[in-house]
Amino acid sequence: MANTLPKILPSFSSLVFIIMILTVAVAVTTSAKHDSFFHELLFPTELGISQQDEKLTHLHFFFHDIVSGTNQTAVRVAAAPSSETSPTGFGSVVMMDDPLTETADRSSKIVGRAQGMYGSASQSELGLLMVMSFAFTEGEYNGSSLSVLGRNTVESAVREMPIVGGSGVFRFCRGYAQAKTHSIDEMEAVVEYDVYVFHY
Ligand SMILES: *[C@@H]1O[C@H](CO)[C@@H](O)[C@H](O)[C@H]1NC(C)=O
Ligand SMILES: *[C@@H]1O[C@H](CO)[C@@H](O)[C@H](O)[C@H]1NC(C)=O
Repeated sequence: MANTLPKILPSFSSLVFIIMILTVAVAVTTSAKHDSFFHELLFPTELGISQQDEKLTHLHFFFHDIVSGTNQTAVRVAAAPSSETSPTGFGSVVMMDDPLTETADRSSKIVGRAQGMYGSASQSELGLLMVMSFAFTEGEYNGSSLSVLGRNTVESAVREMPIVGGSGVFRFCRGYAQAKTHSIDEMEAVVEYDVYVFHY
């Protein structure tokens, strides 16, 4: 029977051989590219991005900065000797891992955490430099984060801080956050955040 097959059809073993050669060739090409790789131009579609698909998302949550008590989430980690006498606490730095919740009630659903630090950066008013990630844990945003870097004059009714980037669903993002103090006492400051970001 085998003798009746046309001679131009490659045998099974020669097909396997051709596939092996092709595989090796692809592997060599790929590794050569990566060994000497510094930069390249990409089409956005190569990262699964279509520029027409840019979205604007509004996120809304409450930030709980708990500065004392058993569930403290913000701790002072450094201060200048003069911070103690400075009316604005100038030079002190606080590290935080603050819960972000759906409503102003601290026991409401946690949607993420604000992880980072703030420092008193003004000698004339309560003006903080905020450097933090909003690390989300809820729904489609679970595992994605936003990076905030900005000025927070905590006594102003509304403070605006730039969103300088993000990860996960927020790759390539840009936007801004508006913060309004909801309540404040010696134990805890609750701040309402409205965040507007462009992302893909
Ligand atoms: C700390 O958190 C626990 C668990 O959520 C809660 O039961 C407790 O009342 C909190 N303590 C304070 C002082 O808020
Ligand atoms: C978020 O993702 C983590 C890690 O994948 C998972 O353990 C957790 O259950 C998720 N949370 C929600 C609320 O989906």
